[in-house]
Amino acid sequence: MTTTATAASAIDEPDLAEAFRAIVARRRSVRAFEPTPVPEAAIRDVFELAQWSPSNCNTQPWAVRIASGATRDRIAAALLAHIDDGGHQQGDLPYLRKLYPSDFKERQVAHILCQQQALGIDRDDKASRMDLLRQQLSFFGAPHVAFLFMPAWGNEREASDVGMFAQSLLLGLAAFGLAGLPQTLLGLYAPVVRPLLEVGEDMKLLFGISFGYEAKGAPGVRLDQTREPWGTTVRIMA
Ligand SMILES: Cc1cc2nc3c(=O)[nH]c(=O)nc-3n(C[C@H](O)[C@H](O)[C@H](O)COP(=O)(O)O)c2cc1C
Repeated sequence: MTTTATAASAIDEPDLAEAFRAIVARRRSVRAFEPTPVPEAAIRDVFELAQWSPSNCNTQPWAVRIASGATRDRIAAALLAHIDDGGHQQGDLPYLRKLYPSDFKERQVAHILCQQQALGIDRDDKASRMDLLRQQLSFFGAPHVAFLFMPAWGNEREASDVGMFAQSLLLGLAAFGLAGLPQTLLGLYAPVVRPLLEVGEDMKLLFGISFGYEAKGAPGVRLDQTREPWGTTVRIMA
């Protein structure tokens, strides 16, 4: 290793680095799916790879339930019935979005505006916002949804391990020609989801990941968003 290492000289396998770059570029949250189910062997392959995610002391504190077929349909129906009956959100974990400080709030608002623009939703139009909620709770048509739980005794450390698993999974889906959407919203209906997956109170639901084949070209399927530039969220202190 030379002392004047550049990005290029640090790369021992350039093809692998380029493949990773392509996978990161390909992975985006997708909000429209084809109904075609993913073959079980492919699902197993990508979830087994995600199992190699790092975790504190290799504790692997994620418990994942994949809803497909009739189970997926039952959960979507129960979620829609819940909101139609005027049921409330009740997540296992608090969601602090109302407390976001200004820079986080700005990014959140930019995201919402981008989504509303892509879907042609007027923020004052309650009916179209309700329609979007119904689409979220129907997994944007995805034939599968993975629900990610963590042990109820755990805290932020276990939650971050589950996040590691989730990102491996999302990149894996992209590498396999599939797509996914992480959805905190699904975690806000934990009491509706938990019994249908036969998961007890000893597990907390963090979020769901709807996945399947992307409905390419559907309105709002991918958002054209930005990221903070180099040097803002990440800094090198040499
Ligand atoms: C843990 C987590 C929860 C999310 N929850 C939702 C959600 O409930 N609904 C939704 O439409 N998008 C959700 N997203 C997707 C984010 O909006 C998306 O990741 C962000 O806007 C960046 O866009 P990108 O994933 O396309 O790069 C979630 C993302 C993460 C990581």
